[in-house]
Amino acid sequence: MSKGEMVYEGKAKRMFLTDDPGRLVVEYKDSLTAFNAQKVASMEGKGRLNNVISSVIFQYLKDRGVDNHFVRVIDDTHQEVLRVTILPIEVVVRNITAGSICKRLGVKEGLPLPRPLVELYYKDDALGDPIITEDHAVLFGWATQEELDQVKSMALKVNQLLGEMFEQVGVTLVDFKLEFGRTKDGRIILADEISPDTCRLWDKATNDRLDKDRFRNDLGRVLEAYEEIWKRLSEPKEA
Ligand code: C5P
Repeated sequence: MSKGEMVYEGKAKRMFLTDDPGRLVVEYKDSLTAFNAQKVASMEGKGRLNNVISSVIFQYLKDRGVDNHFVRVIDDTHQEVLRVTILPIEVVVRNITAGSICKRLGVKEGLPLPRPLVELYYKDDALGDPIITEDHAVLFGWATQEELDQVKSMALKVNQLLGEMFEQVGVTLVDFKLEFGRTKDGRIILADEISPDTCRLWDKATNDRLDKDRFRNDLGRVLEAYEEIWKRLSEPKEA
């Protein structure tokens, strides 16, 4: 698989063409950004950790029926994925209140929600990714209602499966962000990444933050937290 021309560079990843028009190579970078890239840093080894963590998660989800873009790990910082058109919508699922919902609605952090909350945001850096309703997405042509129904049901399935995966390793899945893509033949599949950059993960025993909030809130030991998640996910489990 050759790494051809770069087709996209984001805050944490680069994407490259390959000799197969249906596939791309993703490179995970060491950069960390927060607050819509107002806070930027680079941490050696972060790209490798997110690459391996996201790969293990996408494989786990694929094995359990969540159609997604992951094909294979190439090396420490590269993976092969299916080429899709990303919907301009970020899907956030919350189990416990934290982050922007606390600021927006004035609710306390750490409140368990009676059922998972699914939110949609319009993916637009210049606008700061505003929260939207399904009607906004449909009326402005960002997705069809059928696609949104599918996205929502896939997001809830991912929440259930990921919650179980993290529960087994002593981690509470507080919330996370997903992105979806449209394949050439019009199917909606899960894409992008799932990693400590895109999830809130709290240690069950200590409530320690094991995710990007360590960077956002200057808590220190950022990379150690990502290492800890990788260590727990990659350790062999009891059958
Ligand atoms: O900031 P907020 O509380 O809305 O984030 C909810 C979840 O979505 C968090 O796990 C955060 O890391 C993730 N997120 C993300 N990328 C964004 C916005 C949120 O990964 N652009």
